Amino acid sequence: VSWPARTYDHKTNDEGARVTALASFPNDAAAPDAASKLAELLAGDVAAVDAIIHDRLASQAAVIPAIGEHLVNAGGKRLRPMLTLAAAKMFGASGHDGAQKLSAAVEFIHTATLLHDDVVDESKKRRGQATANVVWGNATSVLVGDFLFSRAFELMVEAGDLTILDLLARTAAIISEGEVMQLGTQRQLDTARETHFAVIEAKTAALFSAAGKSGAMAAGASQSAAEALAVYGKELGVAYQLVDDALDYSGREARLGKSVGDDFREGKMTLPVILAYEGADGQADRDFWVRTIGEGIYEDGDFQKALDLMAGCKAVETSLREAEKRVSRALSALEETPAGDVRTVLRELASFTLERSQ
Ligand code: IPE
Ligand code: IPE
Ligand code: MG
Ligand code: MG
Ligand code: MG
Repeated sequence: VSWPARTYDHKTNDEGARVTALASFPNDAAAPDAASKLAELLAGDVAAVDAIIHDRLASQAAVIPAIGEHLVNAGGKRLRPMLTLAAAKMFGASGHDGAQKLSAAVEFIHTATLLHDDVVDESKKRRGQATANVVWGNATSVLVGDFLFSRAFELMVEAGDLTILDLLARTAAIISEGEVMQLGTQRQLDTARETHFAVIEAKTAALFSAAGKSGAMAAGASQSAAEALAVYGKELGVAYQLVDDALDYSGREARLGKSVGDDFREGKMTLPVILAYEGADGQADRDFWVRTIGEGIYEDGDFQKALDLMAGCKAVETSLREAEKRVSRALSALEETPAGDVRTVLRELASFTLERSQ
């Protein structure tokens, strides 16, 4: 079982070869990846959540469903809403109306942040196609993002648990804080690692964490069990962002469905840059990072030069080692949860996060 409304379209990749563009899942290999297995395990719930998502995109302002369907039909991996459903199932709640609504709310929060993020990052490509800001402009993207946030809140209220509403409302605020904090670190080469980790914990890990925890809570899990899923989600989320930041340098556009090199152009202080600046061999290399990331002055060939400097000090590999550490922590937290099918697939999902980088 897969998410309905997947679309596969053929696009040309950077090498000029015809490739199957990123669809719902990045891995077209015959062996199903962990995300596909999770979708299979959660089949009924996944279909119900998909129906809620399409249903709640409806609006009399036609551009809202147009943008919504543009993004949704391009196929996201739906990791966060599946985490909510998986956590609920782990504690015996399959086909649970509240968990399904929370799952859809989580994906709406994620989609809203992507719309806003692509405006902020001036990104041109998402899920293998033009971003909403390219097609409809910044103003419309921001407003439709707001609409999706509001729809998420409606769903959370309908789910009817104030404690969960509190968790997800605080999470939405934390995500925005993370994005704002990141603006403050942009082009700041002296950004401390702790500051950077605080940014990714807020902008990405908080939602993974709340996604898992809210599913467990909706199913009536104990506080300690819900907390174990919160930790699993948080560590997975940090790992996920570390891999994403590595892929912005080392990835292939056709597989990512997003442009490579956006972070370099935008002067994002991600871990590979922090490590490359720290590991710079001599003043000329330091000057390169100051001119590009620090001052935003770019010349032809700079991205390749950045890649070469990163290769020289293993900045991408070291970032991925850090992601591995976070995945181990996620796996330890999972040991505190009930054994079974769901736990087995959640284990694989943690490894899938790292496989994305290969
Ligand atoms: C993108 O998230 C934003 C990051 C946290 C890196 P996903 O990689 O989960 O995006 P979709 O939903 O699958 O497109
Ligand atoms: C993640 O950061 C964005 C949010 C969590 C809102 P990125 O800016 O790296 O995400 P992508 O690479 O655009 O998906
Ligand atoms: Mg971005
Ligand atoms: Mg961003
Ligand atoms: Mg990124």
